Amino acid sequence: MAGSSGLTRVGVVGSGIMGAGIVEVVASAGFEVVVRARSEEGAAAVVSQVDSRLRRAVERGRLQAAEADAIVARIGHTSHLSELAGCDLVIETVVEDLEVKKRLVAELDTVLPDNAVIATNTSTLAVVELAVATTRPDRVCGLHFFNPAPAMPLVEVVAPVTVAESTVEMVERFAADCGKESVRVADRAGFVVNALLFPYLNAAIALAERGVASRVDVDRAMRGGCNFPMGPFELLDLIGLDTTLRILETLHRETGDPSSLPHPELRRLVAAGHLGRKTGRGFLEHGT
Ligand SMILES: NC(=O)c1ccc[n+]([C@@H]2O[C@H](COP(=O)([O-])OP(=O)(O)OC[C@H]3O[C@@H](n4cnc5c(N)ncnc54)[C@H](O)[C@@H]3O)[C@@H](O)[C@H]2O)c1
Repeated sequence: MAGSSGLTRVGVVGSGIMGAGIVEVVASAGFEVVVRARSEEGAAAVVSQVDSRLRRAVERGRLQAAEADAIVARIGHTSHLSELAGCDLVIETVVEDLEVKKRLVAELDTVLPDNAVIATNTSTLAVVELAVATTRPDRVCGLHFFNPAPAMPLVEVVAPVTVAESTVEMVERFAADCGKESVRVADRAGFVVNALLFPYLNAAIALAERGVASRVDVDRAMRGGCNFPMGPFELLDLIGLDTTLRILETLHRETGDPSSLPHPELRRLVAAGHLGRKTGRGFLEHGT
């Protein structure tokens, strides 16, 4: 047991950008973690990514080598969902697709003990739709991390209408155990942060496409003029353009607000497979 949440063992399903970051956060907080990906290689790759990030922290003098070893030793990996059976909490962080997530939580529901909690890292999807795909809607909520998860201080704890207060409180305590500040939000597309952030990112694409300034100069302008740590195109490429497109589509579907109608240039880049840092090219070029 690592803290005030009373949890011991945490499952993470999904081995993408967010999966690896969340595994690092949770193992660093002292919990036993099992990461599940669709392939053994994908799951093992998460452990190697965490290992190499921690080694870099050791080289920079930010972490003791023994502590890095202990964190990595707490991470197990598997391609079998059934191996999450001993988890008190499972965080799902697979692709932002409602049908995929619904199938996943329904399957998780069959392997987890009755008192286990399922949390989704969805950026915009309706958490209630995942809750009612299980037999434990009172024990399903959102736990929305930010990218990169180890560095970003905030999580949004999303409370759908179906959830029990005790579940939300437990997840808030877990977030605190992980060193995160939490904000409790209602189950509305985009919650707080993405509801405000994504229309801005979409507007930045339109601005550059209108020729007001180059993408690089839009980034420079927002870094220098607003003291933002990164410009909108750097951030779009960090988030991933496929994920961005899905988030904007969901926001637009739910709110009808034209500010979240995905810009056609975003659709073109996604169709071309230029998804951002994860593919080496998005709005900007990235060295491999
Ligand atoms: N990228 C971000 O900045 C960010 C921030 C916060 C939350 N999120 C959310 O986190 C979740 C994951 O996003 P990501 O950025 O890590 O994406 P990613 O593209 O890096 O990874 C997606 C993961 O989903 C898996 N996957 C894809 N199709 C699947 C399927 N049919 N069944 C099961 N697994 C499948 C992939 O193998 C991979 O492990 C999404 O819900 C996203 O909205 C993303």
